[in-house]
Amino acid sequence: MAFRGPYTLLLASLWITVSRPTLGVYQLKPRIIVSRENGAFHTLSTSSGETIGDLKLIQDSHRREIYAGGHQSLFRLHSKSKPPTLTKVNLMIFESKCQNNATSSECKISMLKEGRNGNPLFMCGTVEKNTECCDVTPELLLVNCFSLSYPTQINEPAVHVGDSLYYSTSNSDLSGLYRWAEEKATWPLSGQAEQRHVKILANKGNGSLDGKVYNFYIEQNQNQNPDMPLWIPRVSQICMADLGGPKMVLQFRWTSMLTARLFCGDEKKLLSYTELLDIAVLEAAEWENTTIYALFKNTYDFRAVCVYKMSDIVRVFSGEFKDDEAKTFSSPRPGECVENSRVLSSNFLRFMERRPEMKQWIMPARDPLMFKHNHHYTHLQVDRLRGRKSGHPSYHVLFMSLDNGNVHKILEQEGEPFIIAEYQLYKTTTHISSMLLDRRTRRLFVSSSSEVVQIDLRNCSVYGKHCQSCVMARDPYCGWDLLTCSADNGSLVQDVTHGNYTICENAVPHFSESRTEVKRDHPSNVPQYSRFYLECPMESHHASYAWEHQGRKMKCVSADHNCLLLIDSMSEKDEGVYQCVASENGYDKAIARERLQMNGASETRVTPIALLCLLFLISVIC
Ligand SMILES: *[C@@H]1O[C@H](CO)[C@@H](O)[C@H](O)[C@H]1NC(C)=O
Ligand SMILES: *[C@@H]1O[C@H](CO)[C@@H](O)[C@H](O)[C@H]1NC(C)=O
Ligand SMILES: *[C@@H]1O[C@H](CO)[C@@H](O)[C@H](O)[C@H]1NC(C)=O
Ligand SMILES: *[C@@H]1O[C@H](CO)[C@@H](O)[C@H](O)[C@H]1NC(C)=O
Ligand SMILES: *[C@@H]1O[C@H](CO)[C@@H](O)[C@H](O)[C@H]1NC(C)=O
Ligand SMILES: *[C@@H]1O[C@H](CO)[C@@H](O)[C@H](O)[C@H]1NC(C)=O
Repeated sequence: MAFRGPYTLLLASLWITVSRPTLGVYQLKPRIIVSRENGAFHTLSTSSGETIGDLKLIQDSHRREIYAGGHQSLFRLHSKSKPPTLTKVNLMIFESKCQNNATSSECKISMLKEGRNGNPLFMCGTVEKNTECCDVTPELLLVNCFSLSYPTQINEPAVHVGDSLYYSTSNSDLSGLYRWAEEKATWPLSGQAEQRHVKILANKGNGSLDGKVYNFYIEQNQNQNPDMPLWIPRVSQICMADLGGPKMVLQFRWTSMLTARLFCGDEKKLLSYTELLDIAVLEAAEWENTTIYALFKNTYDFRAVCVYKMSDIVRVFSGEFKDDEAKTFSSPRPGECVENSRVLSSNFLRFMERRPEMKQWIMPARDPLMFKHNHHYTHLQVDRLRGRKSGHPSYHVLFMSLDNGNVHKILEQEGEPFIIAEYQLYKTTTHISSMLLDRRTRRLFVSSSSEVVQIDLRNCSVYGKHCQSCVMARDPYCGWDLLTCSADNGSLVQDVTHGNYTICENAVPHFSESRTEVKRDHPSNVPQYSRFYLECPMESHHASYAWEHQGRKMKCVSADHNCLLLIDSMSEKDEGVYQCVASENGYDKAIARERLQMNGASETRVTPIALLCLLFLISVIC
């Protein structure tokens, strides 16, 4: 009875694996699983081995160094050193009383972002109620320090435009968008519902009055009806030229703030995802071509990614208002940037105080990627790769962390997402606190509370040693260079769009027919009447596996990374050569070969895993 729990679990998981019916379902699973033991990624921890708390990853303004900031300390990543390490940066951001008291909850880094004016970093430290912010020089000295009256938290978004710092806080009664410029603060409007802020984007524009700031956030739904979603996703827009109102109305507060709702889902199927979790941005040469990738969750805990165009957001904000009263103000129009907002009429300002909302919602530019499989994604990063000569403009690859600490590499294509790989970064379930993509070196950094993991996105050796498996991987970072699966420069053999492996036969004139990867020359001696199992390593989880023996094809049982074939009681007829064949999209490949020989002695030779397998098979068959 002691085995009942794990046995039932194993049974359930085996049952799911065996009974998976169609190809379509396979496509929702990661094709390749890269485990920590594989050696395809590096783990960086502190030289002292200390636990470092949830880290935020930041790339300096020159895109050369990566930093990781925790609540009390800042680390620099040395990824080229062997082994790669995190070294602590000693910064005098806190007063002396914090120096020897790193555990004090009163001392914390309250902002960490890329620097301005040629400085690599910008950071704020909070000691009790005082927040001090400084530029961090290349020599890691703190300069141009000032005190910030309205503190924030390290994980909140923040953006510099010139000397103005735009940042948000999600604290319930002070939540909203702030600006700190020339020792003066501009505050959010009061009386707002609980908010969680996700991203701030700024555009200076061409003229002095063009500058706008966009803030992406969710707000608790004031409608308490249980059928209504708990959160409403929104974007707000303000003018950089906003000086706040005169003494009586909206003094030191936004006079230009407009809001619009974001929609993610499928209107026809009445599906909507409202809890915005993360945003990744693909910048473009023209600001309006900026693409925004947003990760959402719905009330059933399913995830979707919606893609928005900045041009659509700009268009919605110049459209109609929800409230007809807006029509009484035409010059300036609500939200229009003006030279001096302090001279606006009090009627106009009272209208602006209500944060006017746009009539139209901001709709995604294309169909959302909906994850029907219950993958609980938490963070999102996106990369764009140049297309190939075949005319495809570009490929987009999403990196999404899961709530168990794994990361998926996903090809974004119209319709179904294709999960290229799952990276199993940690030994146990781990909370991921931050993800950072270094587009220059094509590396992804993932942080938890104890370490930072670095993934080389162009390490293509995980896709095997054959052209076909390299092409079926559909990884835009990789291609077949006639010898190995390697980092693609646009000229290697690859078919990202379809993963059609027939391209290999055309491209490789002397295509090698040797397809067997695992060979054992020595036969395994199996005692008569004993139980035995054969192990076939599963490379692709989109393939189906079978063992062939004397012209017979036998299904095997997937367990973890292997497909197992059980021989119940060894006899003469079980002798001979066994070959494991993987079939994927019509491509068959022999990946393991074993020869069994019976020897006379009848001892029982069975390992625990084989026993469980046997129990399972008996329970399914009988
Ligand atoms: C690439 O991954 C393989 C394992 O799949 C590993 O042995 C190798 O060290 C990795 N290379 C780099 C440069 O990380
Ligand atoms: C360390 O911080 C704690 C909690 O804030 C405080 O009570 C204690 O006095 C501090 N110790 C020193 C040496 O400053
Ligand atoms: C800046 O000017 C260009 C060309 O006149 C125009 O296409 C673009 O929309 C302007 N950008 C903004 C943000 O106003
Ligand atoms: C911006 O997008 C439009 C419409 O898709 C396209 O015609 C234009 O070439 C794009 N501009 C740039 C610089 O990519
Ligand atoms: C791409 O890489 C291959 C093999 O490494 C090389 O032969 C080829 O010249 C490269 N092409 C370009 C355009 O850099
Ligand atoms: C793969 O490409 C070949 C040759 O271009 C074509 O005949 C075949 O139908 C394609 N297969 C798939 C599954 O698209």
